[in-house]
Amino acid sequence: MVCAVDLDIDNQMERIKIVEDIRIKHPRFNHALKLIQDCHQHSKIAAEPQCLLITAPSGAGKTTLFRQYVKMHDKIIYGNTRTKRVILSDEVPSPTRLVVVVESLLEKLGDPFPLRGTLGNKRDRLIKLIKDCQIELIMLDEFQHFVNSENNKLNYEVAEWFKSLVNITNKPFVLFGLEESRIVMEVNEQLDGRFSVPYHLHPFSFNSQSDKEEFRRLVDAISKQLPFEDQPTFAESGMATKLMYASDGTMRRLMNLIRRAARIAIERNHPHVDENHFSEAFELFTRFRKEYNPFLINDFEFE
Ligand SMILES: Nc1ncnc2c1ncn2[C@@H]1O[C@H](COP(=O)(O)OP(=O)(O)OP(=O)(O)O)[C@@H](O)[C@H]1O
Ligand SMILES: [Mg+2]
Repeated sequence: MVCAVDLDIDNQMERIKIVEDIRIKHPRFNHALKLIQDCHQHSKIAAEPQCLLITAPSGAGKTTLFRQYVKMHDKIIYGNTRTKRVILSDEVPSPTRLVVVVESLLEKLGDPFPLRGTLGNKRDRLIKLIKDCQIELIMLDEFQHFVNSENNKLNYEVAEWFKSLVNITNKPFVLFGLEESRIVMEVNEQLDGRFSVPYHLHPFSFNSQSDKEEFRRLVDAISKQLPFEDQPTFAESGMATKLMYASDGTMRRLMNLIRRAARIAIERNHPHVDENHFSEAFELFTRFRKEYNPFLINDFEFE
């Protein structure tokens, strides 16, 4: 027999899942998706593949963007002899060496012995598999793990290696990483030239009136996706100011805070998320080491 308490918990879990799954296609996010798509599509006819390096600070949304593009555009077609797919994507581990990444890519493309052979031999197999599997786009996340802060020669080697991979495969590469990923481009003019369209995904800010409006639109969109029948918008000026102070405009802090506050409200069967829930969630995150809890202060302002 299913009792009312079980149904209630199921319903809460469903709503919490909705909160966890919220993805906002804000204008910066859409712009980046469009740039990736441009590289992907234009490279099919371009004389030279058009590559892209997307940088952003931690928590700005690089991996979310990466996964969204893969989700929207990757397709796997199982053939008799070879599996075809549209996107070859991977995350660069830390610490890393080129050979580790090549082996991981070989494995993703179905190479039966990815660890076998010299680096040169593995590279040749990778190039052949990229062609045979009809890969259209190669995407790597956490590219900064290739950067060596002590030995610039190693950065040059990585850059040379990627340059030749772009040349030989003739496929576009889209790389994601922290700002220091650029070091690999900067040591090699030829690689830099192939990644001539850089994009930096900035965190949100309150620097200008239009920045404030952009942030308000973002938090308004989030409040509209929350699973409450009676949720006031977070775009109201006081609330938006508090959310900006608490999050510093990074998606990770903002979403962590909103997700936790919404969870508290759902578990308490409250009709919407309010400042008490935010205040409690903020304290749970030890205020992100901030001086004030803005959700406890009326008319909160900050510089
Ligand atoms: N557009 C978005 N909509 C909803 N949530 C988002 C969005 N972008 C980022 N987030 C959330 O912010 C958090 C951090 O995002 P993500 O992991 O993409 O950042 P990152 O830039 O890859 O960070 P890192 O450099 O630390 O890997 C995640 O919880 C993610 O769900
Ligand atoms: Mg990431």
